[in-house]
Amino acid sequence: MKVLALGGSMIFGDLSYERVKSYADVINSHRDKLAIVVGGGKISREFIEIARKFGADEASCDMLGIEITRLNARLFSLALNNCSPEIPHDFREAKILLNIYEKIVMGGTFPGHTTDATSALLAEYLSAEQLLIATSVDGVYSEDPVKNPDARRYAELTADELVEIVSRNELRAGSSSVVDLLAGKVIQRSRIPTMIFKGTPEIVKKALRGERVGTIILP
Ligand code: UTP
Repeated sequence: MKVLALGGSMIFGDLSYERVKSYADVINSHRDKLAIVVGGGKISREFIEIARKFGADEASCDMLGIEITRLNARLFSLALNNCSPEIPHDFREAKILLNIYEKIVMGGTFPGHTTDATSALLAEYLSAEQLLIATSVDGVYSEDPVKNPDARRYAELTADELVEIVSRNELRAGSSSVVDLLAGKVIQRSRIPTMIFKGTPEIVKKALRGERVGTIILP
């Protein structure tokens, strides 16, 4: 059983039937147990931005983001075959529903991190054989490739190296990280075999088939 983290900006960037369907087709052709964690995408960022302007604290902004990820999860679950109609709010619910259904989709859990960490914690809790992180970049780079065109993309890394890179990125104000630090730490502590790649439907399909794409995090 695998856990797939589907970045919100990939599947729910510009919300459309065609885009959601292109991902649903890939998941529906994967006839195996699968736990999916979806992100919030553009909509959650817009909600959070407006809430911040009203002076909302960070935890309240996170809770707003979580609601959007759950709404996205509910929509995506309706596009999938053999999927739980209930959206688990925590890992225990996810495990129970996975015993009944072939697929489950969930969003976030609690404030303080993104769905990257949620997916890593879920993979840890379910003892998943692999964690697949489908994101907006095509792997892990030595530095932010937007800021430094000479940044090197890694074909593989150890979990210790991933944590080192992610914590370096986090220290720079305003820089976005390929996965959040908590996700890196969970992958590191439980040695979860992980692959981080650009989450187009074609590449997600390859990853689910067991092909090597993006960056592999060695357990
Ligand atoms: P995302 O996981 O989509 O965050 O959750 P993101 O950083 O915009 O997306 P990626 O990782 O770059 O693809 C949306 C927001 O919901 C809250 C956070 O505020 C996050 O930024 N959230 C999500 C939580 O607080 N806890 C969770 O478990 C998940």
